[in-house]
Amino acid sequence: VIDIRKLYADTDCFTYDPGFTSTASCESKITYIDGDAGILLHRGYPIDQLAEKSSFMEVSYLLLNGELPSKAELDKFTYTISRHTMVHEQLATFFRGFRRDAHPMAIMCGVVGALSAFYHDSTDIADPEQRRIASHRLIAKIPTLAAMAYKYSVGQPFVFPKNDLSYAGNFLNMTFSVPAEDYVVDPIIESAMDKIFILHADHEQNASTSTVRLAGSSGANPFACIAAGIACLWGPAHGGANEAALNMLREIGTPDKIPEYIARAKNKDDPFRLMGFGHRVYKNFDPRAKVLSKAATEVLDKLGISDPVLDTARELERIALSDQYFIDKKLYPNVDFYSGVILSAIGFPTSMFTVLFALARTVGWIAQWNEMITDPAQKIGRPRQLYTGPTQRDYVTVDQR
Ligand code: ACO
Repeated sequence: VIDIRKLYADTDCFTYDPGFTSTASCESKITYIDGDAGILLHRGYPIDQLAEKSSFMEVSYLLLNGELPSKAELDKFTYTISRHTMVHEQLATFFRGFRRDAHPMAIMCGVVGALSAFYHDSTDIADPEQRRIASHRLIAKIPTLAAMAYKYSVGQPFVFPKNDLSYAGNFLNMTFSVPAEDYVVDPIIESAMDKIFILHADHEQNASTSTVRLAGSSGANPFACIAAGIACLWGPAHGGANEAALNMLREIGTPDKIPEYIARAKNKDDPFRLMGFGHRVYKNFDPRAKVLSKAATEVLDKLGISDPVLDTARELERIALSDQYFIDKKLYPNVDFYSGVILSAIGFPTSMFTVLFALARTVGWIAQWNEMITDPAQKIGRPRQLYTGPTQRDYVTVDQR
């Protein structure tokens, strides 16, 4: 009989680390986070500087290539992405197979995975040129697919991409234009959308990125790997939190109800958590939340919206940050806390929030996937386990059990 405990004891090195709280799965040069100091750098550049001064296309180039582009490089990259925005016409047929009321994230899991059937040439991951084309295809087509998922869910016809618009502007146009009336892209909304894309572009080895890397480690094609990332992102503890945060703020309704919800969050017998608070890595203010807090005011002012949800959010933040429970546990607002308020003001239903996160994160996922594929130390991901089941025993026939 095998003594399982002895087997583990005899293994040279064995770590048990549920949730990977202290185990690095890879080396990476893309994103750096100092969670205690509230710092997030992409290829060395602080996220607040990128959100303030850069554009999503430029940040995408940076994440993929390691350096900020020259003007000519940026123009070429932007042109290339705009040339790949169309999707195969048969993908429209694929959409029509979904129920009318399907969640757009459910549609995204399916259609992004299906890209591998439409762009089979890009599944040759051994060819660097095909990897580059697959990366461009994914970044370019994701907004088209996301807008199609939205249009399908509201029963409106799909809108074709317009390549003379910016990345964010084109997405807004495909989402909100209807045949009877073109959507006029407001520069403030376009800029807020671009900022939201920048803030969600990458976040090192979070659950969905690790999923993309793990799926890719077996040699799976990039479209299938990104579909796996989208599936993981959908969870309420990850990308689904912005939807949950806005629903929670709406449920709280008015600032006078906040103490009741804070008390629930502290109660160990109540599974309730303040959505949009806390982070596995940040034990300080999430730097992305700071940028979004400011953008929320700008967008609501511009649209002339006085939303009680924003007042509730600001008051909740103020009370939570002075509460001993939240101070002791280092729980601060995360990126999801304010993004929902902005997205809702722009006109997106909550069911689209995680789709927008997936849209922006695709560039991070594909940059991480490319880094993994070209890493000489890359191996198939194969976590160990700590077995706690029965030790070896003999089979008993059914009539003797
Ligand atoms: N409200 C109340 N208490 C909380 C919260 C919260 N939002 N988050 C954590 N805590 C408490 C836990 O109850 C736990 O208390 P204990 O030590 O007494 O058991 C302690 O803080 C640590 O929490 P963990 O769940 O162990 O922390 P972990 O790092 O595993 O979880 C997570 C991080 C999942 C983000 C968590 O803070 C959470 O559920 N937050 C709400 C959901 C959310 O906003 N998710 C978005 C994350 S950002 C992103 O994905 C882009």
